Amino acid sequence: MRPVLGIESSCDETAVAVLAGDGTVLAEAVLSQAGHAAFGGVVPEIAARAHLAHLPRMVGAAMAQAGVGYGELGGVAASSGPGLIGGLIVGSGFAKGVALAGGIPFVGVNHLEAHLLTPRLTDGLAFPYLALLLSGGHCQCVAVEGLGRYRRLGGTIDDAVGEAFDKVGKLLGLGWPGGPAVEGLAARGDAGRFTLPRPLLGREGCDFSFSGLKTAVAQLVATYPDGALPVRDAADIAAGFQRAVAEVLADRARHAMTRFAAQHGATVLVVAGGVAANQSVRAALTAAADAVRFGFLAPPLRLCGDNAVMVAWAGIERLRAGAADGLEQAPRPRWPLDGADMAVAA
Ligand code: KG4
Ligand code: ZN
Repeated sequence: MRPVLGIESSCDETAVAVLAGDGTVLAEAVLSQAGHAAFGGVVPEIAARAHLAHLPRMVGAAMAQAGVGYGELGGVAASSGPGLIGGLIVGSGFAKGVALAGGIPFVGVNHLEAHLLTPRLTDGLAFPYLALLLSGGHCQCVAVEGLGRYRRLGGTIDDAVGEAFDKVGKLLGLGWPGGPAVEGLAARGDAGRFTLPRPLLGREGCDFSFSGLKTAVAQLVATYPDGALPVRDAADIAAGFQRAVAEVLADRARHAMTRFAAQHGATVLVVAGGVAANQSVRAALTAAADAVRFGFLAPPLRLCGDNAVMVAWAGIERLRAGAADGLEQAPRPRWPLDGADMAVAA
């Protein structure tokens, strides 16, 4: 297969990548938009405008770095959902333009599928495997049975895990996004000082819940008069929160692994999404996998968060399976992984 251009614009990362048909990364770039920090969260309109401002230059630079002409592309893939609709329209619209001009196939990629397929690129992992998708907007446990065949085994009943990190970061007066900042502060803290709840620990199934934990942190922070939280206490709270999250994720993963092994006879656990970058989370999941004799795979850090390498790779997998999309395919803010429209003809 000829090289594939990938575009990611579903949230606040503008990313482009060019991959050779065998998955070799020829060029990649990620621009984490800076304009949102002052608002303490992603502002959809700012994000969409920033994608529009940066994408043309970034695509041109990636193509030049890859040494690939537009006429040599075998396809172009863009995240087409789920995500913020403005950004999705910009990225998928741009990709459709490239496809139309070059007479090459377009693939409208499900962003979550792209996260899930990453270990097939990095480690050549075969189907089936169990995946925990841990990001800012999504927190779910998925049996990855084949290309386009994803069975959701459980998910969050309230906040996504990355969202909980972001909210706790805000409560502790850290920058945004909160995840990396909370992890940095937690490294200096005593995780045993404050007792925080472990929602759903030990419960059957593999659903998640984080809002009670976040509320417990909010209540703890509120006990400090006028929000005067000493750095040492903030570090201890961050560490306690992170440990609670890691323990809950490990427990939920244990349940999922037992169920998955019984149903599929396969024993690999994969973690994906921005929170997969967290070292405590990785360590807890590694131990949980070891305990039930599962292999454990986490993508390299640069491929945990939103990026376009995973989008181009999902495009390659779909093009290999003959599953290109029509240019009329509409981007969609909500796009469940287990819908009939994910299926690839056998
Ligand atoms: O997958 P991602 O880049 O974007 C979404 O699709 O949501 O995930 C972003 C989320 C944010 O909530 C961010 O705070 C969290 O991942 N995150 C982390 C870390 N790095 C990013 N959470 C905990 N520890 C980290 N090191
Ligand atoms: Zn993501």
